[in-house]
Amino acid sequence: MLNYKITKTIFGERPKFPKPNPKFMEVIDGEKGMEALFDKFYDMISESEIAHFFPQEEEEMNLVKQRNTKYFIEFYGGTKGYSRIPDKSMDVIKMHVDFSITEKARYGWLSVVQDLLEELDIEDELKQGFWDTFESFSKWTVNRNTKTNTYEEMVKV
Ligand code: HEM
Repeated sequence: MLNYKITKTIFGERPKFPKPNPKFMEVIDGEKGMEALFDKFYDMISESEIAHFFPQEEEEMNLVKQRNTKYFIEFYGGTKGYSRIPDKSMDVIKMHVDFSITEKARYGWLSVVQDLLEELDIEDELKQGFWDTFESFSKWTVNRNTKTNTYEEMVKV
């Protein structure tokens, strides 16, 4: 059984996270599959509660989408396309510094990750691994301290 559990961020903490499993990219047909997956991810983001964080212009959004896909391919051990872009590095903190990301925004982002995984037809173990990596790693991107609530408290209101 898959467990999409979300634990609370301790502001400023950079938790260790489970390493990405290269088998994930393999079973979804490699880099081509990652492109299709993250195309979908960004389309879902545009329809989600965190859409306002992202460019509203389609062309702009497509550029972010392309860079994002390169990042995830590289993160999963594929072509080193993202870190080769001038002025870019794999540093997830730097890359989000211009955006004010709260714990609530993180929950919104993770909820899109969950929807994405639910539609994906691969074995649960690989989905769980993906979830566990990003549930934890996404804590690194939270750069605005708010009176943080737990996910359970937030969905009740
Ligand atoms: C570990 C988790 C995450 C990873 C690996 C990740 C990765 C990325 C990447 C690769 C980009 C593109 C950077 C570029 O343009 O060069 C990006 C942009 C962005 N991400 Fe994330 N992200 C994560 C979590 C989040 C979360 C939780 C939010 C919350 C809302 C978020 C909001 C954004 C925004 C607003 C942008 C920029 C859009 C723009 O350039 O206008 N990300 N992210």
